[in-house]
Amino acid sequence: MSEALRLPSEQLFQEEIKAIKKQDRRQKPTSWQMSPWGVETFLMGEKLKNGFKVTPKYIGNRRLIQIAIATLVTDRALLLYGLPGTAKSWVAENIAAAISGNSQLIVQGTAGTPETDLRFNWNYAKLLQEGPSRQAIVESPIMRAMESGKIARVEELTRIPAEVQDTLITMLSEKNISIPDLDTYVLAQKGFNLIATANNRDKGINEFSSALKRRFNTVILPLPSTLEEEVSIVQKRVQDFGVLLELPEVPDSVQEIQRVVTVFRELRNAKTLDGKEKLKSPSATLSPAEAISVINNGIALSVHFGDGDLKAHDIASSLVGAIVKDPEKDPIVWNEYLDTVIKGRKKWSDLYRACKEIS
Ligand SMILES: Nc1ncnc2c1ncn2[C@@H]1O[C@H](COP(=O)(O)OP(=O)(O)O)[C@@H](O)[C@H]1O
Ligand SMILES: [Mg+2]
Repeated sequence: MSEALRLPSEQLFQEEIKAIKKQDRRQKPTSWQMSPWGVETFLMGEKLKNGFKVTPKYIGNRRLIQIAIATLVTDRALLLYGLPGTAKSWVAENIAAAISGNSQLIVQGTAGTPETDLRFNWNYAKLLQEGPSRQAIVESPIMRAMESGKIARVEELTRIPAEVQDTLITMLSEKNISIPDLDTYVLAQKGFNLIATANNRDKGINEFSSALKRRFNTVILPLPSTLEEEVSIVQKRVQDFGVLLELPEVPDSVQEIQRVVTVFRELRNAKTLDGKEKLKSPSATLSPAEAISVINNGIALSVHFGDGDLKAHDIASSLVGAIVKDPEKDPIVWNEYLDTVIKGRKKWSDLYRACKEIS
């Protein structure tokens, strides 16, 4: 077993990918290592004919995943759009791993991303020594994906300045990257496509030009539609991380997961689950990803400093930390919720006390 903190999907799930490839008799697009059916199976999970179990990666609407995969066989790129923590990056990584066996041809978008990160850069030592030559070119991940017919990824596309984003327009419509100094270009091979992610909540995001938008099919990843679905997402991912982080399994975590997810959903939707009471929403997003980290923190506390059972006392501080982000407005929202909802709930008095202690 590798000691890496986090393995890329194609390594983490290499057995599953091998098993799917073995069973996959359907037509594969050029350069894909499995068919669209295989990619769907990898993402959604399934028991294969020979009994091999493929674990679900994405928990939610199957149709969205089918649309995402189908987009990648067309000449349009795929944009996964939505709130932070709705599995956009996770889905992009797993789709790229399934299609290309490489999920790491990736450009991380920031406000400081230059055009050269998307196209190519020069190795200046070589450039000065030999003048412009193919050897002096440092290829971007997108250029490498083009040459090998693989899937490239751009994370947080809308953090990239608009004029730099526009570089992608020609790349995606011409399907090549030109190298003017060498009077040549790199042609995208069949199988090349691009998955970008962007979120609509973070501050400091740039507009997304309509010319670029037309090069993409957008798939919006929603927040989980039901409590049950959200609980099962958190449960599954907490289990996965538990193995990676070498945390022992905690027997009663389901109860606490249910409470955390209930609190998140109620605050997010600004009303109690039964719809009877109106609430205020805090500034934070409160996504499944946040719930997962609240529970993981709680497990770490209970395992190392508690009795190994996950208790209200273990999750309270990270629960409050996830909810109270704006030091001015959020405490009011949170205290109101604490005193009108949590306090009145049967069997929640332990959570009420634990939260009161630190609020
Ligand atoms: N519907 C879902 N199915 C599976 N995992 C999910 C789902 N929603 C959130 N997650 C988990 O939340 C975590 C954060 O997701 P991430 O891809 O980083 O979010 P984003 O890129 O949308 O901000 C991941 O570990 C992911 O597994
Ligand atoms: Mg992301």
